Amino acid sequence: MALEPNFLLSWVFLCIAATISSTLFFLRKKTHKFTSKKLQQKKNKKLPPGEMGLPWIGETMEFYKAQKSNRVFEDFVNPRIIKHGNLFKTKIMGSPTIVVNGAEANRLILSNEFNLVVSSWPSSSVQLMGMNCIMAKQGEKHRVLRGIVANSLSYNGLESLVPQLCDTVRSHLDTEWGGKEEISLYRSAKALTFTVVFECLYGIKVELGMLEIFERVLEGVFAFPVEFPCSRFARAKKARLEIETFLVEKVREKRKEMEEEVRRPNTTLFSRLVEGLTKGEITEDEVVDNMVLLVFAAHDTTSYAMAMTFKMLAQHPTCRDTLIQEHNQIKANKREREYLTVEDVKKMKYSWQVVRETMRLSPPIFGSFRKAVADIDYGGFTIPKGWKILWTTYGTHYNPEIFHDPMSFNPSRFDQPIQAYTYLPFGGGPRLCAGHQLAKVSILVFLHLVVTSYDWSLVYPDETISMDPLPFPSLGMPIKISPKMAL
Ligand code: HEM
Repeated sequence: MALEPNFLLSWVFLCIAATISSTLFFLRKKTHKFTSKKLQQKKNKKLPPGEMGLPWIGETMEFYKAQKSNRVFEDFVNPRIIKHGNLFKTKIMGSPTIVVNGAEANRLILSNEFNLVVSSWPSSSVQLMGMNCIMAKQGEKHRVLRGIVANSLSYNGLESLVPQLCDTVRSHLDTEWGGKEEISLYRSAKALTFTVVFECLYGIKVELGMLEIFERVLEGVFAFPVEFPCSRFARAKKARLEIETFLVEKVREKRKEMEEEVRRPNTTLFSRLVEGLTKGEITEDEVVDNMVLLVFAAHDTTSYAMAMTFKMLAQHPTCRDTLIQEHNQIKANKREREYLTVEDVKKMKYSWQVVRETMRLSPPIFGSFRKAVADIDYGGFTIPKGWKILWTTYGTHYNPEIFHDPMSFNPSRFDQPIQAYTYLPFGGGPRLCAGHQLAKVSILVFLHLVVTSYDWSLVYPDETISMDPLPFPSLGMPIKISPKMAL
């Protein structure tokens, strides 16, 4: 049977209409199914308990207040752990944040850098340290920079550095302590740490006024990033520019020198960075920004650990006697003013336990921020993508199930192995402190040369610790000193 043209046309129309309507119906059903699946998924995502505080500022004031008096654990973290558990939500500095505590949560967050989270620093820190510094880098760029920095600062890399470190500490003590009866231990430790980075890592002589310029930058690192003429941040930016000009000149000089003397081995961290520059692995900005960052990373942290170790020793005379005995034995096997070696540092086992215990109780960095780059499901809750995460040392360092009688000072607890991700003064995972070995040898060499050369006592045994935002002894920890009589 042949079909009439009119009939054929109506038939084609009918078919098209049927196809369109069935497609629409199918799509509607699918969209409906999809949206309800999304809604269902949203419903399944349960935020951790906690309070978001006031609109926009959230609980920032409570956090800052606790931080200023060095009571972040007592007044902010612990009351919320008691109320909500190890995972709680809050809002700090305008950002919805999940605070995580405990070994398992630390492992999840710290070991998943780049996959689930990325480190998240305030805009002022990134502007002052430089966008090209290691802490602001992710992925491949982070790997390359980390390779240069961490290799130079590894235990093997430090082997040649220990005698040099010994020389730097000794000449610091001769010039800054010699002939004095009282000194500020914290200020002395800061000046020393600064000299160690410049002279031992960069081979650049510290000149008068340099430390002050750097400290002006450091003062702005956590300041509000507004550039009013006299604001902390504006002063810091001006100081950063001065440093940049100085370092760029040094980098170019070094590059020229290295190109002219092809055969000299590139042993210092500075020459390794410049070598990376000549090979085209990194840029000049990356060299400069990382040189600034390393000063910042080493400065307040190492000096606080040094000062607090002395405070703990003063409060625990039995520990002090054991530690002094360890150093006297090392000294007894050396000639007068002979340099220490890595082997000597390895013998300072008890001293390192004392330092570790000090950093457990008084961590120079109590935690740091990350940003979730994907939804993270953990412990029956979801940390939403885009939220900040704050991991803290407190959740494990002060936990009696992990460290027995956690508030007591007991260096011998480190005779036993420590469970992973419970002891975190240096962080963990891919962002583990790249300078932890340098920090260790600097503190131990300093301890050795002080306790074998000086008798000392705290001027204010009850001196309080403030935070801004890193902790520091509020009076600079003055100590009375007198040279030890030669035996
Ligand atoms: C007692 C002294 C020190 C303490 C307590 C300390 C602590 C830390 C912590 C907790 C982190 C990780 C931060 C995070 O996870 O966001 C870190 C990272 C870092 N630290 Fe240290 N630090 C110390 C000394 C040093 C020194 C002496 C240097 C080098 C001169 C250094 C260089 C670095 C660098 C480069 C990073 C960034 C690593 C990366 O992003 O891959 N630190 N430090």
